[in-house]
Order: sequence, then structure tokens, then C-alpha cells
Amino acid sequence: MDFWIAIIVVEVVVITFLIWTVWSAVLGAPWAPTSKSKVRTMLEFANVGEGDTLYDLGSGDGRIIIMAAKEFGAKAVGIEADPIRSMWSKLMIRHHKLKDQVQVSRGNFFNFNIGEASIITLYLGVGVNNKLREKLAKELKPGSRIVSHHFILKDWTPTEIDEKANLYLYSI
Ligand SMILES: C[S@@+](CC[C@H](N)C(=O)[O-])C[C@H]1O[C@@H](n2cnc3c(N)ncnc32)[C@H](O)[C@@H]1O
Repeated sequence: MDFWIAIIVVEVVVITFLIWTVWSAVLGAPWAPTSKSKVRTMLEFANVGEGDTLYDLGSGDGRIIIMAAKEFGAKAVGIEADPIRSMWSKLMIRHHKLKDQVQVSRGNFFNFNIGEASIITLYLGVGVNNKLREKLAKELKPGSRIVSHHFILKDWTPTEIDEKANLYLYSI
């Protein structure tokens, strides 16, 4: 009996690990959180403020959307494919009492309309950024900003670059 319980526990751990690591990489980018100090730099760089609606595409554990709301006064929306990270973000939003200001949806961000955003934050990868360009150009309003950590949007000209922090700011 103990043997079978051990087998079930191992299976659950392996499946959870697969969901945790492989699925998000298949969809676009693996889990690699931006450091909290870099998140602050990113939000300052994009000049996030009270009138803004920020969307973090691939919002991970919710650190960008939570800081955008808590420290910068923005309304913030995260879209995250991984069920565990999206559940964790929801707990953190509740913990910080930000339910009226911050929202997270679980799923593939390609399936969500992002037209409400005035700021998009990205920390994804080369291939997925390339695919995203069409969606960003089609759905975002003129004047919206995009701040991408580490990865450029190929053939788009950034309005500003922070070389030290490896940040690229684009305007629609
Ligand atoms: C490098 S992490 C960045 C997390 C967070 N934005 C940050 O900067 O700390 C990328 C995240 O994007 C998520 N992701 C990748 N492709 C996605 C997709 N197509 N739809 C939703 N989430 C996606 C991954 O699960 C992962 O949590």
C-alpha cells in the first residue's frame, strides 16, 4: 500500500513539474521573473501613473501588476498561462488588498484582447515578441507604450533605450 502511495505522490510531483516548466515554454517563454528592483526601473522608465492601464503579457507571479498598482497607482491586468503562477498571483492580489485595481486571467495572451491597455510590459523572448508585433499594432491605441525587458521588437524603433537595465520602450 505504501508503495502505491509513493508512486502516486511521485506522479503528481512529476506532472506538476511538467506543467510548471514545459507548458509556458511551449506557449512562448519559460518562467524567469524580473527582479523586483528591475520591475521598479521598468515602471519608472515607462512613466507609469494613475491614469494608466497596464497589461503584463505573461505575468508570472504577478510582481509587475502588483507593483504597478501599489506603488504607481495604475490599474493593472496580468495574463498568465501557467495555472500555478496565476493562482499565486490571485492570492497575492488578495493579500495586498488590490482586488479592485488588479486582475489576472489564466490563459494564452494571444487569445485576449489587449486594446484597453495604455502600457504593455513584456519579458518573453525573441520568437514570441516577433509574433506579438502584429497583435500589438492591431489592438493598441495610438500613444500606448510598450516596455520590453531584454528582448527587442524586431524592426521596430524604440523611442528610448535603457542600456544598463536592458529595457526598450516603444510607442504606438
Ligand atoms: C520570463 S517570465 C516573466 C514573468 C513576469 N512578466 C516578470 O517579468 O517577472 C514569462 C512568463 O510568461 C508566461 N507565458 C509565456 N507564454 C505565454 C502565453 N502565450 N500566454 C500567457 N503566458 C505566457 C510564462 O508562463 C512565464 O510565467
